[in-house]
Amino acid sequence: MASGRFSRMWRVYGVVVLAAAGLAGCDGKAAVPQEMAAAVERGENYFHDYCAPCHRPEYGAFAPNLHGVLGRDAGSTDFSYSPAFKAQDFTWDEDSLRAFLQYPRQVVPDNRMAFFGFEDERMREDIVAFFKYKMK
Ligand code: HEC
Repeated sequence: MASGRFSRMWRVYGVVVLAAAGLAGCDGKAAVPQEMAAAVERGENYFHDYCAPCHRPEYGAFAPNLHGVLGRDAGSTDFSYSPAFKAQDFTWDEDSLRAFLQYPRQVVPDNRMAFFGFEDERMREDIVAFFKYKMK
């Protein structure tokens, strides 16, 4: 299961690389609108650098699996969340994800995610684009 997800991630990564090389997107099959391809690729790189060390699917015990997080209730996977996260009563959408990426501690006070948040608005937008198009 986990290895299937992992290999799918790498296939997706290959598609992004092709798109960046200008080889994809001509056949109309690319899931990512061409004008979003660069943002999604940057977002994927940020994800690998800043989020995957904890959130990587095959190491799922450290942090909740983020596949399909947009549209899902906060704190609703089988991960063993902090009481702060369990008490949340909202559904992740692009706005709440943006806000969380900027100020994780303000959006969910006392949560256990050891991450400071991104000052850079474009980094947040890129990560949201990656989640929107590649982490369905
Ligand atoms: C140091 C490890 C760590 C890093 C780095 C990290 N996270 Fe997390 N993340 C966690 C943990 C642990 C939780 C659960 C927190 C809790 O239960 O209080 C969490 C929770 C979340 C949730 C809520 C998931 C849900 O099911 O409601 C989202 C969304 C999220 N992280 C996104 C990200 C993104 C995007 C990044 C990269 C920018 C990131 N995280 C970086 C450890 C991490």
